[in-house]
Amino acid sequence: MLGVGGGIAAYKACEVLRRLTESGHHVQVLPTEAALRFVGKATFEALSGNPVHTQVFEDVFEVPHVRIGQEADLVVVAPATADLLAKAAHGRADDMLTGTLLTARCPVLMVPAMHTEMWEHAATQDNVALLRSRGVVVAEPASGRLTGKDTGKGRLADPAEIVELARLLLARPDALPRDLAGLRVVVSAGGTREPLDPVRYLGNRSSGKQGYALARVAAQRGAQVTLVSAHTAALAEPAGAEIVHAGTALELRDAVHKAAADADIVVMAAAVADFRPASRADHKIKKSDRDPDPVALTRNPDVLAELVSARSAGKLPDTQYIVGFAAETGDESGDVLTHARAKLARKGCDLLVLNAVGDGKAFEVEDNAGWLLAADGTERAIALGSKAQMATAIWDFIAESTGR
Ligand code: CTP
Repeated sequence: MLGVGGGIAAYKACEVLRRLTESGHHVQVLPTEAALRFVGKATFEALSGNPVHTQVFEDVFEVPHVRIGQEADLVVVAPATADLLAKAAHGRADDMLTGTLLTARCPVLMVPAMHTEMWEHAATQDNVALLRSRGVVVAEPASGRLTGKDTGKGRLADPAEIVELARLLLARPDALPRDLAGLRVVVSAGGTREPLDPVRYLGNRSSGKQGYALARVAAQRGAQVTLVSAHTAALAEPAGAEIVHAGTALELRDAVHKAAADADIVVMAAAVADFRPASRADHKIKKSDRDPDPVALTRNPDVLAELVSARSAGKLPDTQYIVGFAAETGDESGDVLTHARAKLARKGCDLLVLNAVGDGKAFEVEDNAGWLLAADGTERAIALGSKAQMATAIWDFIAESTGR
């Protein structure tokens, strides 16, 4: 069930609807009367393939506000206006959408969109806290351009992200508790590019999807997140996370160290190049410029290992929890787990997330499976699932290990 509140962001609900129906979901749209002043009923009916009602006095014989609520596997409200959050928090039921919210027994995801002042108002914050205390997932809004000239917190999360969160809740209704509230988290994501000349670089196939999923889930679980993003595929920006862009391994290292200074948890999901060209030509290398010698490389710093040493040296909080990733293929000297155990010991981090790669696994694909290997010897397999599900399993483990 897709509830649509009466805010200008209602037009983005069409994109959410389209993405949900295209991925095979049956969607019943329940706009408020005010939402229909922004987007026509015909648009929601055409995109959902279902009739659209706003009032409980339509088709009364079917008792639709009860039926729709009872039948739904998930309720998504996007945009959730300040007024709608207030009504939901206080159990008002004066239209089809609010009536349905009272009858729904499935997970409910409310995605706020409003001006910063309205979001920050004590009334709204109290309503959000009340809804969350009852298990409603009230998503963190994004920051950015709002209607009119202002910018700030209160923008509707990207439609692609709303759909990610919806899919995650369908698979794992308990995936987004607020258990990371108060924690400062740094996640690095994507692949670095090491320039050879102004137009060429050495890069890798990391899409950044796993790192973005980790940042997205952490932000929605209440953490204050800095996402240090190297190069990625076109991805929705996780709402509520601060994004710092870094192109090369050296830039990423600086950004991670800066953000890690007062972080509780650092997750190095980025694919950082181990080597960079020893020199960077300041002009485009021409066919005629030189003989095709092999490119001379120089070693990049190991950011993860540096974090662990900085912590031991007292330059980072000694309680900081540091997570590394390992992409392994296994070879004649050992299988993926053997390599990962050795890497965990070598890197000295608290947790190593192991992905088996090669044969189309992990890189640029939607699903991931792996193992969690902790410094205390605990090992946990993570079943194949979406990268958001993998991120959830990782945060569950970290939350348990850090006594959340
Ligand atoms: N990493 C890093 N800095 C680097 C390279 C890697 O911080 N220069 C981090 C990655 O973000 C990841 C972890 O280290 O969390 C594992 O990286 P990987 O390259 O697989 O480990 P290596 O020690 O380089 O081992 P290998 O011999 O397999 O290359």
